[in-house]
Amino acid sequence: MFEVRGLKYKYPNAQDYAVDGIDFEIRQGEIFGFLGPSGAGKSTTQKILIKLLKDYQGEILYRGKKLTEYSDEFYQDIGVSFEMPISFSKLTAMENLEFFRRLYKETVDVEPLLRRVGLWEDRHKKTGEYSKGMKIRLNFVRALLNNPKMLFLDEPTNGIDPVNGKIMKDMIREFRAQGGTVFLTSHIMSDVDELCDRVAFIVNGKIREVDSPRNLKLKYGKRVVRVEYRENGNVVSKEFTMEEIKTPAFFELLKTKDIETLHSGETTLEDIFIKVTGVALHG
Ligand SMILES: Nc1ncnc2c1ncn2[C@@H]1O[C@H](COP(=O)(O)OP(=O)(O)OP(=O)(O)O)[C@@H](O)[C@H]1O
Ligand SMILES: [Mg+2]
Repeated sequence: MFEVRGLKYKYPNAQDYAVDGIDFEIRQGEIFGFLGPSGAGKSTTQKILIKLLKDYQGEILYRGKKLTEYSDEFYQDIGVSFEMPISFSKLTAMENLEFFRRLYKETVDVEPLLRRVGLWEDRHKKTGEYSKGMKIRLNFVRALLNNPKMLFLDEPTNGIDPVNGKIMKDMIREFRAQGGTVFLTSHIMSDVDELCDRVAFIVNGKIREVDSPRNLKLKYGKRVVRVEYRENGNVVSKEFTMEEIKTPAFFELLKTKDIETLHSGETTLEDIFIKVTGVALHG
């Protein structure tokens, strides 16, 4: 869907490049994740891809044609959910959606969507009286209003409770199952791990690694089995690599010790992120 080559962007008056020479592609039908700490350039990249920021260097192709050569028809194709949800606070949720509906040639019935995200009962409430999570859910529905081919989601589950987060993640996966493509930014590891087919690690405007979460775990992960057992009243913890669990020492321990817990410790994507980038995702 997208091919990005040598993309650079500097905000007017800024010293440094917010996006500093990145290359990646977004394949049709995949959920492509941009993972990185605060200030890494995730939202900036999204804004460039949706033609909101224009004075960039490098080349962006959307469906094989330069992004700069598209006019408004591009917006019929895409659905966008911003980092900060936007709506007219004096209008109800329904009135907001009707306003945006007029911008598109083709739109969908919002009732099933509003029911799904739990906003149907509150559809006639002014969005100024919505909670933060309600605004985010409404923004998600708005992003789906024009039945887009491609969704851009900036931190989609940030500020959402776990139950609604799960619903939203299910809806994102269903969107993909129906052939949709997704660009998603996040610093929430579990979102990326659960949803993304491929993920790019981004720090200081540069991409450090792009691969599937599974491949990243195989490449950088340490697969171990951790055994905790009791010895002389103390809990002792021991790690065994996948090779070591085939040795007699491992079986001996299981046979002779008072085992309390046995875990297969897969390295998390968060550990891998830190290993690859040398930067922690949070604080
Ligand atoms: N409107 C702006 N004007 C000037 N600089 C900006 C502007 N927006 C962002 N920046 C700078 O560009 C860099 C990248 O910001 P960006 O918003 O893309 O980060 P992010 O990865 O989305 O972070 P977060 O996880 O906090 O949302 C930061 O250094 C930021 O200060
Ligand atoms: Mg951001």
